[in-house]
Amino acid sequence: MGLRNVRELGDEILRKKSKPVKEMTPRLSALIDDMFETMYAAEGVGLAAPQVGVLKRIVVMDVSEGRDEPIVMINPEILEMEGEQTGPEGCLSVPGKHAEVKRAQKVKVKALDREMQPFELEGENLLARCIQHETDHLEGIMYVDVKTGPLLDNAEEEEYAEEDGNGETSGE
Ligand code: NI
Repeated sequence: MGLRNVRELGDEILRKKSKPVKEMTPRLSALIDDMFETMYAAEGVGLAAPQVGVLKRIVVMDVSEGRDEPIVMINPEILEMEGEQTGPEGCLSVPGKHAEVKRAQKVKVKALDREMQPFELEGENLLARCIQHETDHLEGIMYVDVKTGPLLDNAEEEEYAEEDGNGETSGE
């Protein structure tokens, strides 16, 4: 196993609703490993199983600077949303693009870990954005559906970032 092929906007699998995971299997465990490998290789901060062509409710994320804080969410459910943030968002399934998206500033989510044990997670800022973006993928929703500004090329973002020293766009 290893890197998986990332499906791109236009592939209809991205528009389907993913199914809950009932039990962990060696096959799903290998999928999770491959999803992390694929996400890190693409320098993304999150990846949902439908993006690699598997309609299961599995998400991997890592929003840490050191790229050493992996989070797996199986069957995630957002319990609470609070506040508002608007910022640039990208997606590994929409390469080279980004757009402004309005999201909740803070979310609380419950999910199962890879041992199928329940946990709750609270996230703010980028983590909150990532949780919302990835759980949307499980419903067949892409950020281009909910964006609040035009779809831009990442080259434009770099110019913008140079101007005001703002952060770069992360693929999810
Ligand atoms: Ni995405």
